[in-house]
Amino acid sequence: MRKKAVSGKKRSGTLLREIGHKKEVLVEMMMILVRALEERDEYTKGHSERVASLSVVLAKGLGFSPAKIETIRRGALLHDIGKIGISDELLYKPGNFTPEERARMNQHPEKGHFIVLNSHLLWDLIPAVRNHHENYDGSGYPDGLKEGNIPLPARIVSLADYFDALATARPYKPAMTKESVLEYVRSMSGKKFDPSIVKVFFKIIDGFYEKNFKPFGES
Ligand SMILES: [Fe+2]
Ligand SMILES: [Fe+2]
Repeated sequence: MRKKAVSGKKRSGTLLREIGHKKEVLVEMMMILVRALEERDEYTKGHSERVASLSVVLAKGLGFSPAKIETIRRGALLHDIGKIGISDELLYKPGNFTPEERARMNQHPEKGHFIVLNSHLLWDLIPAVRNHHENYDGSGYPDGLKEGNIPLPARIVSLADYFDALATARPYKPAMTKESVLEYVRSMSGKKFDPSIVKVFFKIIDGFYEKNFKPFGES
């Protein structure tokens, strides 16, 4: 009896490892699509990987378990996968969207949700994909969720995503200085961003800049 229980445990351990491996392979395959998409635009090249790096540092700072950190990393890597469903004309338009264009652009989190939904192995990544444009005060999209109702991975990816958009150049704006980025994040605490995540952000951000920002042209 005892022997059987041990081998059962072993079997479930092997099964879990197999599922983990399949998940990693699926995320890698989807990352090929994301990289191909980002590669077409020098401004967003590497965006999802940078968002994932900062999300991981924030998740570690929040004291999450390695498994939860890994889910956040994968969700951050795929957060903009729905942009695959947005037309080039819109995707590469340098700002100044009409309200109708803005509405179409804002569909990318829902489009991403439906892409990720294709595999039941990736369902745990849906919150980061679908809800990374929610705002802490409820003014975001697509669901207008507020505060604790926004899934935690989405709150983390939201800050990392916005940080990257501010700190790197875009066709319609230069990269903001570190000082201005930090000022903006501080001013948006409790509005756009979860204050508890902003608190961790300020603890880790100097180290993150030092380690990651020279390649992006930060002075
Ligand atoms: Fe996005
Ligand atoms: Fe993004």
